Amino acid sequence: MCGIVGYTGRANAAPILLDGLKKLEYRGYDSAGVAVINDKKLFVSKTAGRISALCEKTDNGENLPGFTGIGHTRWATHGAPTDINAHPHTSNDGKFAVVHNGIIENYMSLKEELVKKGYEFESQTDTEVIVHLLEMYYTGDVKIALLKTAARLSGSYALGVICSDYSEKVFAVREASPLIIGLGVGENYFASDVTALVQHTKNVIYMDDGDFAEITPDDVKIFDFAGKPKNKPVNRIEWDIRAAEKDGYDHFMLKEIMEQPRAVRDTLSPRIKDDRVCFDEINLTDEDINKINRIVITACGSAYYAGCAGKYTLEKLTGIPVITELASELRYSQPLIDDRTLVIVLSQSGETADTIAAMKECKKRGAKVLSVVNVVGSTVAKLADYVIYTWAGPEIAVATTKGYTTQVTVLYLLALYIADRSGRITPSDYAETLASIQKIPQLIRQALSMNSAIPTLAKKYHIHNSMFFIGRNTDYAVALEGALKMKEISYIHAEAYAAGELKHGTIALIDDYQPVVALCCNKAIMEKTISNIIEVKARGAQVLALAEKDSSKIVTIADDIIFMPEMDDYLAAPVEIVPLQLLAYYMAKENGCDIDKPKNLAKSVTVE
Ligand code: AGP
Repeated sequence: MCGIVGYTGRANAAPILLDGLKKLEYRGYDSAGVAVINDKKLFVSKTAGRISALCEKTDNGENLPGFTGIGHTRWATHGAPTDINAHPHTSNDGKFAVVHNGIIENYMSLKEELVKKGYEFESQTDTEVIVHLLEMYYTGDVKIALLKTAARLSGSYALGVICSDYSEKVFAVREASPLIIGLGVGENYFASDVTALVQHTKNVIYMDDGDFAEITPDDVKIFDFAGKPKNKPVNRIEWDIRAAEKDGYDHFMLKEIMEQPRAVRDTLSPRIKDDRVCFDEINLTDEDINKINRIVITACGSAYYAGCAGKYTLEKLTGIPVITELASELRYSQPLIDDRTLVIVLSQSGETADTIAAMKECKKRGAKVLSVVNVVGSTVAKLADYVIYTWAGPEIAVATTKGYTTQVTVLYLLALYIADRSGRITPSDYAETLASIQKIPQLIRQALSMNSAIPTLAKKYHIHNSMFFIGRNTDYAVALEGALKMKEISYIHAEAYAAGELKHGTIALIDDYQPVVALCCNKAIMEKTISNIIEVKARGAQVLALAEKDSSKIVTIADDIIFMPEMDDYLAAPVEIVPLQLLAYYMAKENGCDIDKPKNLAKSVTVE
């Protein structure tokens, strides 16, 4: 995934573009570049490395005068992160510059055609075909050249384009990659997401697939790909720039871990009125609900693990079979999905390519798709039949935390809602379950305050290069997410394992001092997990256990304990994951890792 920005107005564009790119750096950070128009000429500066390198190269944009420009921060897909492969890319005649987020799937055939016609390529990227197509189709009208170019492209693209013949205009095109227009006074912007716009304006237009925008300092015209004008609503961003800044924390990840009580409360409160769950945003009729004979949850990464955690509660409350499917698997597995299947799609960014593809596959098979997503106006939100937003606020750290906990919380609410609507729960159980769900923000706050010892545990365990996370049932689901957090930010190999499975082979790997994190919060089966702790202890493991504070037996067998507040076994995941997020964070800190921007990762994987 990459980040693109554009500006046209009365101020120097380059410093504004660089500042916008810094806000988008979590989307990709292996190279960056800007292009501006000055005196009817294009000026481009781009470099491998972080945006800080580009700031240095351009003296924070001061050596690139011009009031119109585009910028790009890259997560390399085609071609290594080098100066040449960095965007913007320019046409041979020097008139056009382009920035792109997405993948042009037919770029090889286009490149062959363009090379045969004498266009010279300098980079290994797919993007460069766009700028040569523009030159080929340009006869004085950029709009026509752009529409002809778009008609040749297949794949996903959010494009920013400038042409030296139009010194006040920037052009933006959206197809299957997010793009938002920011409306200022005497200046206008575009960006991949609102975090790059919100310090300038809260009035935005969410572009849709097939939209093309012609932007000047005082006007924004939007057309479809046939060139027909479109009227688009202006939306108001509801949060301010501080929400997208670190606010004194060392890392966005720690800030977002600490924000979870508020994020979960903000996600819950609009959906609980007069002690009833209400999803005003979705119109699931009684007929729709009673028709559901299966629920399929599909997502990627942590969102998938949020589904694994929610599955137990959905099945327990609704009595409907729930399966969880990795989106990257489901899309190629000929899924047995029909119009009686409710498909729930989870995604923080709403732009994950595998998740979007899986959604389309499910819709093709007649299923209704309900999405749980954090980014308003994202592709997943637009494609779904029903959308439930997690009001977590912008999540900047690549490793999700509040995205996960708010997704699981929505699944708990949805389970209760469906159980009630289908008459599968008594009024007293309903009231009791709702009261427990409403306690989650406070329990998360307790979990955050109970664990001041975690930095000390991190100092003890960070020296290892592998860890096991074991648990059963709901604990196992949380172990999956705990292990991923550890891997992706501390670079310590971590494997989540169903505790009862260890003895069927994997226990062969347990040697002296092998760290094992044992999740024992599900009280109904805690005794079973305790026996697994004893098994690994007998082979020399060091056990760090998670258990509720009154589990006395654990104290005698575990080497270290993280005490949790008392929780409902089937509503524990958003609380139980918190110490594991902190453990991963502090171990990554001990290891000197780049916590907010882990190597090789991007905030949203918008490619297959
Ligand atoms: C989360 O920590 C990971 N960075 C990653 O697994 C992420 O959850 C996954 O890529 C799905 O992203 P999404 O929720 O934006 O769809």
